[in-house]
Amino acid sequence: MAAGAPPSSPSPPPPASQQQQQPPFYELVKGSSGLEKVQLRGARGCFAEIYLYGGQVTSWKNDHGEELLFISSKAIFKPPKAIRGGIPICFPQFGAHGNLEQHGFARNRLWTIDDNPPPLPVNPAIKAFVDLILKPSEEDLKIWPHSFEFRLRVALGPTGDLSLTSRIRNTNTDGRSFSYTFAYHTYFSVSDISEVRVEGLETMDYLDNLKGKERFTEQGDAIVFESEIDKVYLAAPSKIAIIDHEKKRTFVVTKEGLPDAVVWNPWDKKAKAMQDFGDGEYKHMLCVEPAAIEKSITLKPGEEWKGRLALSAVPSSYCSGQLDPLKVLQG
Ligand code: BG6
Repeated sequence: MAAGAPPSSPSPPPPASQQQQQPPFYELVKGSSGLEKVQLRGARGCFAEIYLYGGQVTSWKNDHGEELLFISSKAIFKPPKAIRGGIPICFPQFGAHGNLEQHGFARNRLWTIDDNPPPLPVNPAIKAFVDLILKPSEEDLKIWPHSFEFRLRVALGPTGDLSLTSRIRNTNTDGRSFSYTFAYHTYFSVSDISEVRVEGLETMDYLDNLKGKERFTEQGDAIVFESEIDKVYLAAPSKIAIIDHEKKRTFVVTKEGLPDAVVWNPWDKKAKAMQDFGDGEYKHMLCVEPAAIEKSITLKPGEEWKGRLALSAVPSSYCSGQLDPLKVLQG
């Protein structure tokens, strides 16, 4: 099944007059610039939106209708530019090396709905999900000469959690392996970056992209933000918390199969230099990007890799009026 559909009832349906109209869990509609997007509707009004362009989540809303992801007011919804915000997928490379464009091409290709994905173990409580697929075009094969199937499932859980599961398979028929790096380039919406703290990365080693990728060790304190940051944390824990004091909200980021985590905020100067980003918008976003960067992933023909991201947003008053990040991170 490609997408969540209302469950069918085993008993005869009640007369039409008694039937409760249930909204569809899934709908394909036209979005900005005529690009198609899938809208997922979960329990209690939770919502997510995914553009086929980039296979990119551009909206995730909680049961109060609050947007949890950042999307720039200047985002360009027109190929070949990647959409600025939401969750771009960086594949087959993170960063810029060699012939491939920065962060690879998956984020600016048209994905399609996968009507017949191979089975993926699912939580039966998840009704709202969609499966997308990306395969290389003839043009893609010229810049990255490997045949692959990239399957992405985006799902809204019963409590409004958002999960993205990527399955990448090497379908080369000439016996060749391929290697890639990867990231879920997640843009979180925050009230004020100077009131945000990230927990879970303290004491970790990182490569600092602002210092020629030199390796450092983070100090023992939670990460706070006073200037531009662009770091790749290595072998980061599977849970990271983003605590937004002003909003009294904590995002819990859970990652599987993705050892690293990038933390990025362009701050004022770089923000001004970006055509598709508002000058002051850096104050209201933070990227925390579960990734596989330091060690690339290699797949032999026929092999498949899986990498999963799960996001939840919990009130910071979670633990009896006092957030205990350790409980959130270990829970
Ligand atoms: C981050 C990188 O993940 O993405 C930064 O660490 C980069 O170095 C940023 O500037 C934005 O990249 P892009 O290609 O979307 O402008």
